[in-house]
Amino acid sequence: MTGKAVSLRDRLEARLAAALAAAGAPAGTPAIVAPATRAGFGDYQANGAMAAAKRMQRKPRDLAEAALAAADIDDLVSHAEIAGPGFINLTLSDACLTAELDAFDANVITPQRPDPAAAPVVVDYSSPNLAKEMHVGHLRSTIIGDAMARVLEHTGHAVLRQNHVGDWGTQFGMLLTWMDELAEDATALGHELLEHELADIETFYRHAKERFDADAAFAQRARDTVVRLQAGDADCLARWQQFIDISMRHCEAVYSRLGVGLDRSHVHAESAYNDDLATVVSDLDAAGLLVESEGARCVFLDEFKGKDDKPLPLIIQKRDGGYLYATTDLAAVRYRCGTLGAGRILYFVDNRQTLHFRQVFAVARAAGFAPADVELEHMPFGTMLGADGRPFRTRAGGVIRLTDLLDEAEERAFALVSEKNPELDEADRREIARVVGIGAVKYADLSKHRNSDYVFAWDSMLSFDGNTAPYLQYAYSRVQSLFRRAQVDPTGFDAPISLREGAERALAMQLLRLPETLATVAKDGVPHLLCSHLFDIAVAFMAFYEQCPVLSAADAATRDSRLALAQRTSAALRTGLGLLGIGTVERM
Ligand code: ARG
Repeated sequence: MTGKAVSLRDRLEARLAAALAAAGAPAGTPAIVAPATRAGFGDYQANGAMAAAKRMQRKPRDLAEAALAAADIDDLVSHAEIAGPGFINLTLSDACLTAELDAFDANVITPQRPDPAAAPVVVDYSSPNLAKEMHVGHLRSTIIGDAMARVLEHTGHAVLRQNHVGDWGTQFGMLLTWMDELAEDATALGHELLEHELADIETFYRHAKERFDADAAFAQRARDTVVRLQAGDADCLARWQQFIDISMRHCEAVYSRLGVGLDRSHVHAESAYNDDLATVVSDLDAAGLLVESEGARCVFLDEFKGKDDKPLPLIIQKRDGGYLYATTDLAAVRYRCGTLGAGRILYFVDNRQTLHFRQVFAVARAAGFAPADVELEHMPFGTMLGADGRPFRTRAGGVIRLTDLLDEAEERAFALVSEKNPELDEADRREIARVVGIGAVKYADLSKHRNSDYVFAWDSMLSFDGNTAPYLQYAYSRVQSLFRRAQVDPTGFDAPISLREGAERALAMQLLRLPETLATVAKDGVPHLLCSHLFDIAVAFMAFYEQCPVLSAADAATRDSRLALAQRTSAALRTGLGLLGIGTVERM
C-alpha cells in the first residue's frame, strides 16, 4: 500500500466533519475528535460542534444532534450519544475493532511506503564536533533524531539523514600542529606515539590545548596551519583528513553501540559547504540584505532585537574574511532545499541554539534560499542534568564520554540481570545486559518531553517497574514466553479475534491507537508520546494476562483469539521499541 494507513481517529474526524457540514456548519469545520477523556464516555469524543455552533449562533446540542443524524459512521461505531453541552461520545463497534485487528500487520506493523511524489524530509541530527570525542552532550540529538527518522520512515515519509558534523574551524589548526609534532617525535620513537594518542580524542585535544596555551611559538604555528588549511594546502589537508577519519571512526563506534542508523553516507560535514560560502555572501549581497557593521558583514532583520531594542545582526563574514557557523547553515539550507529537494527540514539541536536557528531560517527565507513551502523546524531539547541539578558531568567536573557512559550502563544492567537470572550462562546475561542497559539509557531520554531538562538517574532508568525500557522489554519477553509455552511461533500465528472481556477490549483499543500516536510523533517530533503509548500497551497486556487465561482458556477458539491478541502485542512492542532504536530479548 502506498501512502499512510489512516488512523481510526482520522477516519472518525473525516466522517464527522462531513456530518457537521451536512448539518449546516461552514465547509472545513473540524470535528475535533480525540480519545475520550474518561471511561464510560466511549472510545472517542468529537468536540467540534460546540465551537462551530457558537460561530453559527445555534444551540450546540442541536448542531451536534443534527450532525450525528447525518453522520455516516455505522461501520465504525456501535453507540453514539450527545453529552454535556454538545460533545459527541463514540463507542467503536466490535466488528470495527476486529476488522482493524485483522489489518494490524498491514496498517501498523509494516512500514508504509512513501508517496513517490512527496518531497523528502531532511533530518539533521547527531552532528557532533569532530575536534572532540562524543560526550553526553551529543546523546540527545543522536537518539531523539534517530528515533524521529525511523518514525517518519515508518509512517510513509522519504527521509534523508544529515549528519552535519563540525570538521572545520580554528581548533583544527591546533590539532594538526600537535599531530605534526607527535609525528616528528614518532619518527624517533617508532611510529606508535601518534596512533596511541589519537586513540583517545578527548585527551589528544586536551594535550594540544595545553601546548597551545603554554607555548607561543606553537600557537603561532597553529594559526599559520589554519590559514594553510583553509587555502587548501595539500599536506595540511592530508593531515586533516587523517584526523577526521579517526574521529569519525570513534563516532561510528558509538553509533553502532547505540544502534543508531548513521553511517558515512549520511555525513555532510561543515567543510562540504566551503566552496559555497563565498556565493552565499554574494547572493545575500545581491538580495540587498548585507550590511557592514564594525568591519563584519551582517544581515539585520527587523524581527530580531537585542537588549535596549538594538537590532541584532546575524554575522555572515568576519572582518578578516572568515565565515561563521551561520554562513555554513545558510549554505546547508540551500543545499537541502535545492539539491536534496526537501519538503521539510528538521534540526535536532539543543535549545541554546534557538536564536541561531530563528535567525538562519528568517535570513534563508528573506534571501530565497528556502522556498515558502519548505518547512524549517528547529526541534530543540533541554539538558541532561546530574543528581545535583547541574549539567551532567564526572565527579571531577569533566565531560562524560559516551563510551564510558554506555560501559557503565551495560555493567549495571549485567549486575541486575545476573541477580534476576543467575541460572543463565554468562554470554546470555551479557547480551541481555547490553540490550537492556543501552535501551535503558535511550529510553530514559526519549520518554521525557524533549523540551525539558531531565535528571540522569541510573536507578530509575534501570528499574523494572514503571515507564522504563526494562519494564517494556520484560513485558515483551512475557509475551514471548507465553508463545513458547503454547509451542506456537508468534510471527506466523493468526486466528479470529473476539473481544468478550473488558481487558481484551482495552488491550485492543491501545493497540489500535498506535497509528494516531505515530502520526503525532511524526508531525510534532515528540517521541515521548510513543514511549508512553508503549507503556500503556504493556500495562494493558499485563492486565489482560492476569484476567484472561490464555493457555487454560475454556475452549480452543478463546485460547487462539487470545493468542492472536498477544501476537499483535508482541509485534507492537517490538516494532515500537524498534522505532525508538531499542532492542528486545526473547527471555529476561
Ligand atoms: N556541530 C554543532 C554543535 O555541536 C551542531 C550542528 C547542528 N546542525 C546544524 N545544522 N547546525 O553544536
